[in-house]
Amino acid sequence: MNNRTSLEGCVSIVTGARGGIGRGISRELAAAGSDVVLQIERDQRDSVEVNDAARARPLVEEIEALGRKALPINCDVSNPAHVEAMVDRTIEAFGRLDVLVNNAGIVNTFRLEDMPEDEWDRVIDVNLKGMFLCCRAAIPHLKASAGAIINNGSIASFGGASGLTHYCASKHAVIGLTKALALELAQYDVTVNAVCPGIVDTPMWSEVLTPDPEQYKAVISRVIPLGRDQTPEDMGRAAVFLATNANITGQSITVDGGITSRAT
Ligand SMILES: NC(=O)c1ccc[n+]([C@@H]2O[C@H](COP(=O)([O-])OP(=O)(O)OC[C@H]3O[C@@H](n4cnc5c(N)ncnc54)[C@H](O)[C@@H]3O)[C@@H](O)[C@H]2O)c1
Repeated sequence: MNNRTSLEGCVSIVTGARGGIGRGISRELAAAGSDVVLQIERDQRDSVEVNDAARARPLVEEIEALGRKALPINCDVSNPAHVEAMVDRTIEAFGRLDVLVNNAGIVNTFRLEDMPEDEWDRVIDVNLKGMFLCCRAAIPHLKASAGAIINNGSIASFGGASGLTHYCASKHAVIGLTKALALELAQYDVTVNAVCPGIVDTPMWSEVLTPDPEQYKAVISRVIPLGRDQTPEDMGRAAVFLATNANITGQSITVDGGITSRAT
């Protein structure tokens, strides 16, 4: 059994590390003692002149300021060759892997009857297949370290939302994958759990779901019993908690200010 009470001396991979929640998770893992491999994706919003190292630099500096090493790696999580290369590069650089956080995810909104097939595929490929590919590549190394996998679910892992059939299907599947993989890996002392965020103010909301800040505020006060949105650091602290508890596996922690507790 692993006896981790901190992540001192550990190495973690965080996918989607440059996104809102990914940054918070990366910072909290580093604060708990882990070196962090930051999986970043070439972002269509960036100009082609901006190179990968430059895009990752602010986050690298934040991790280094916490006294930990940071290694940015460019990778599309839905591409098996990219994912295998990312894990190989991690082992080459650090010699071990203790924690995999599958955080990368995308959303777009279409009613199902109008959904182009490639939009359906894109969401499932990143949110679900990407998770499968990252787990598959990481498992041999996590077995060696009695490591931990943390999958990013959502409140959409437990309920539906109009216009988000593909996203909800992918996030419900995260819970099934988490439970089944927890059983497969229990004999190796590898734990597999999910963190399910409620509403976190990231580009996923500001650029896709609710670009209007007033509408975002209205959503917060209407749906969240605690009356405030959640933070990337909330998700990071939940990930650290799960990564340092050897007897929790196959579970999900919902960090949503009470949204999913409502009966009506
Ligand atoms: N923001 C929320 O309120 C919220 C709520 C519930 C769940 N989530 C989940 O949290 C995770 C992070 O979301 P966020 O809010 O930080 O969004 P975000 O858009 O800020 O970050 C998403 C990250 O995923 C990366 N990514 C997208 N496609 C990728 C690919 N093919 N390969 C590698 N990386 C890719 C992006 O580059 C980005 O860094 C997602 O899985 C999302 O579904 C977010």
